[in-house]
Amino acid sequence: MIMEVVSNAGQMQEIVMGMRRQGLSIGLVPTMGYLHQGHLSLVRRARSECDRVVMSIFVNPLQFGPREDFAAYPRDPEHDLALARDEGVDYVFAPVKEDMYPKGFNTQVTVEGALTEKMCSRSRPGHFRGVTTVVMKLFQIVQPDRAYFGQKDAQQALVIRRMATDLNLPLEIVTCPIVRETDGLALSSRNAYLSSEERRVALVLPRSLEAGRDLIIKGERRVERVRDEITERLAAERAIKVDYVEVCDGQTLADLAELRGPVLLAAAVYVGRTRLIDNIYLEV
Ligand code: PAF
Repeated sequence: MIMEVVSNAGQMQEIVMGMRRQGLSIGLVPTMGYLHQGHLSLVRRARSECDRVVMSIFVNPLQFGPREDFAAYPRDPEHDLALARDEGVDYVFAPVKEDMYPKGFNTQVTVEGALTEKMCSRSRPGHFRGVTTVVMKLFQIVQPDRAYFGQKDAQQALVIRRMATDLNLPLEIVTCPIVRETDGLALSSRNAYLSSEERRVALVLPRSLEAGRDLIIKGERRVERVRDEITERLAAERAIKVDYVEVCDGQTLADLAELRGPVLLAAAVYVGRTRLIDNIYLEV
């Protein structure tokens, strides 16, 4: 099949209706472009499970705070389309802003509670509302049977899963493993901001989380001890600023009295002006 690029929501909906009439299952891979192997791993998974794969590419202004990097967010549409085509995407849905947020737009979707009260929500107020709103719109337009998200954005994946359950959305949310560089840095479009020195320094993020995980593997069950280990290792790298370190329930993000069950070790740091996040999920 030749990949088709669709920039209009109504047109995308018509194509979707056609696919539905033919009984084809649809996988959606929502992205903000500047594609890397992490995104492409989602496409591969979608291809293996669905008859047709739709990738959305839309840098969503609603999920960026006023002092964040919306304008600077890396964009390379030509390269994205070439990668999507090579990976076998059937449709790229790349709407214009006016189509997603028409004049007078005034409806948003908010997931409340612990899932959106800690971690990235603290330093990025309103971020997840922007994410759930745009993802809900993408679900309405593409009507996928399955939608694919990366575990690197662990909190985002949980928030979207909550929304899908709470609103009885007739689809499956699939979370795919983090894809890392060979030295361990999680792939992210924002890695493009890093200078070579910052790129070196950024490694402290996966290394510190690994140190926390290793403590648990060796038998440590005290939450504070593991959190302190990660925090101290991060703090030892003077060139970064810690945003948060969280050791919590891997499904609800609730605080834990002791390390048992699904556990998420997560951290966000600033390397220069670039904010990076990473996490490790484990069953204890
Ligand atoms: O993870 C992302 O790239 C974005 O948050 C998403 C899910 C595409 C919504 O804009």
